[in-house]
Amino acid sequence: MQNKGTTLLIVEDNHDLRNGLKDILSFEGFTVLAAANGREALNQMKAVHPDLIISDITMPEMDGYAFFEAVRTLPEGVTIPFIFLTARGERDDVLRGKNLGAEDYLIKPVPGRDLVTAVQSRLTRFRQLQLAQMEGAYQAALTALANGIEVRDRYTRGHVERVTAYTLAIGEALGWRGKRLDDLRYGAILHDIGKIFINENILKKASTLTEEERAEIIKHPLRGAEMVKDIPYLAQAIPIIRSHHERWDGTGYPEELSGEEIPVEARIVAVADVFDALSSTRPYHSAYTTEEAFDHIINSSGTHFDPMVVNAFQRAWESGKIQEIAAKWHNYPIESEPLP
Ligand SMILES: [Fe+2]
Ligand SMILES: [Fe+2]
Repeated sequence: MQNKGTTLLIVEDNHDLRNGLKDILSFEGFTVLAAANGREALNQMKAVHPDLIISDITMPEMDGYAFFEAVRTLPEGVTIPFIFLTARGERDDVLRGKNLGAEDYLIKPVPGRDLVTAVQSRLTRFRQLQLAQMEGAYQAALTALANGIEVRDRYTRGHVERVTAYTLAIGEALGWRGKRLDDLRYGAILHDIGKIFINENILKKASTLTEEERAEIIKHPLRGAEMVKDIPYLAQAIPIIRSHHERWDGTGYPEELSGEEIPVEARIVAVADVFDALSSTRPYHSAYTTEEAFDHIINSSGTHFDPMVVNAFQRAWESGKIQEIAAKWHNYPIESEPLP
């Protein structure tokens, strides 16, 4: 049953009503705790954290408002969904509760169906909100992790953010939406994560790399893929991390894949990555103008890059999106990866 494992707390001084509510919700599979007033409810909350609270307003000892405020001061109570029960016609109650920040009201007597629907929809909304917040926090954590590479090297500042923005602009030009764009975003954020293993002196080196140093650098796609392989949430990022240095004509690395053997997400990030590398100042070359970098991408269609992706990039350029992103980050000097 879908409600199993969800704990509700009912706070109501009327014994019959309290038991009636409890029976209805228990029948739906919820675990239901009950208390006769706010004080008793707070005591129960020391042992159990309910997922949702339904509380009467007028009660002895501690009324619904005082209880609501007490719950919101508890660290674990800040976000618990809260539904007030109010007698018909108590409009002032509704207003006062709204001012406190309670979102939901049920008017007594509550038909069983309405009660169950209100509880379930409140829980669903709360879980959606929680998930959205978690994803936001997750993405911020990933970006911070990816930026960990940049912190070691002043030349790489902003590279992750710009490549991610260019990548999404290309994805949107291809008509991608929703989860497909999200997966693309994670891959772009993490594409160079494997560089975390590369010695700083190599990353910062302005002169030509030795054979050994180059061998070290070209390991970063496989090392990065290895780093995230046990995180199921990031499974879609792996092909991007692994294959963002492959070339359409088969002369890239690490696997010398060609054409459509290269995952399309990686073909997109490749364009974004090179465009950014060219239009940013790096230790071993000064920046192209954005127009020069754009020309280079167009001229490499069918050799380095997938023509379909280059077309999408061109559409994003023509809509002004690419220039907008470049201008926004213009003040950051960047990265030292040898040109892909
Ligand atoms: Fe890379
Ligand atoms: Fe890169």
